Amino acid sequence: MNKKPTILIADDDLNALRVLEKLILDQGYNVVTESNGQSTREKIITLKPDLVILDNYMPGVSGNEICREIKSKPETRLIPVITLTGYTETPEKVEAIESGSDDFVNKPFKAIELLTRIRSLLKVKALNDELDSAEGVIFALARAIEAKDSYTQGHTERVSQFALLVGHHLGLSLDDQNALYKGGILHDIGKIAVPDAILNKPGRLTEEEFNIIRTHPDRGEKICKPLNSIRSALEIIRHHHERMDGSGYPDRFSGEKIGLLARIMAVVDIYDALTSNRAYRPALPQEKAFSILDMEADKGWWDKNILSEFKKLVTVAV
Ligand SMILES: [Fe+2]
Repeated sequence: MNKKPTILIADDDLNALRVLEKLILDQGYNVVTESNGQSTREKIITLKPDLVILDNYMPGVSGNEICREIKSKPETRLIPVITLTGYTETPEKVEAIESGSDDFVNKPFKAIELLTRIRSLLKVKALNDELDSAEGVIFALARAIEAKDSYTQGHTERVSQFALLVGHHLGLSLDDQNALYKGGILHDIGKIAVPDAILNKPGRLTEEEFNIIRTHPDRGEKICKPLNSIRSALEIIRHHHERMDGSGYPDRFSGEKIGLLARIMAVVDIYDALTSNRAYRPALPQEKAFSILDMEADKGWWDKNILSEFKKLVTVAV
């Protein structure tokens, strides 16, 4: 399982590139070299290296610009970047830091200094990869739960997309949007603790059965809590069944005590449930679903502002 880390080096100075390549190859790492901005950009996307060393001055696209791109995309943002800077002036260093570079090394560099930084950043990368694979297991579990029930297939992905649509429209940060995506996939993961006979019961549930269903947000939060990388989605998992008037569960929170992300999830979750086929009824048309949601918002259950924004978005998007 211990595969050799791959390091991408990008520098338009071919002599420097060869020196660096040899230095790093000698340490037993895989090395890929690039000498211009555009091809570096493409290689990062296709190769997803474990670390990138960027010369700031390259024809076409600058190292800082490439770094900014790496750090802004979810699929590459955890790749560590070392920027090679030709000068020691502070503004250049500041620019490298602002672009999200994890470290920078002045040229001409000392081999030992560069290799130490490479080693420590690769360690961080390996830890992040481990966390990511634990996260992968949880996501696979969420999809496996969904697949057991033909009526809810695709629900979590749709809910995630709806939640993202709202989050993006409200101008939420990338971290919040990321939490909305993960929360959408994971919000019902606690249902793994609810017997299938209750989950798939076509008729009315007894009070006792409802009480078992009501445990799923708390169970879900407990399942996901050990994972740092999904910490931001925990409030969504725990509070997606709270209502604005305090009549929801599990904590009977009301108003803005319920986090914004959980309030968004509550609206899009119910919308998708209403517009999908269920064991006990066929899918409702969009208009009917919104008239029910409006009625429930009037009763004090849902955040009216979120509902009205979502309505505008989804009626345009569908
Ligand atoms: Fe739920």
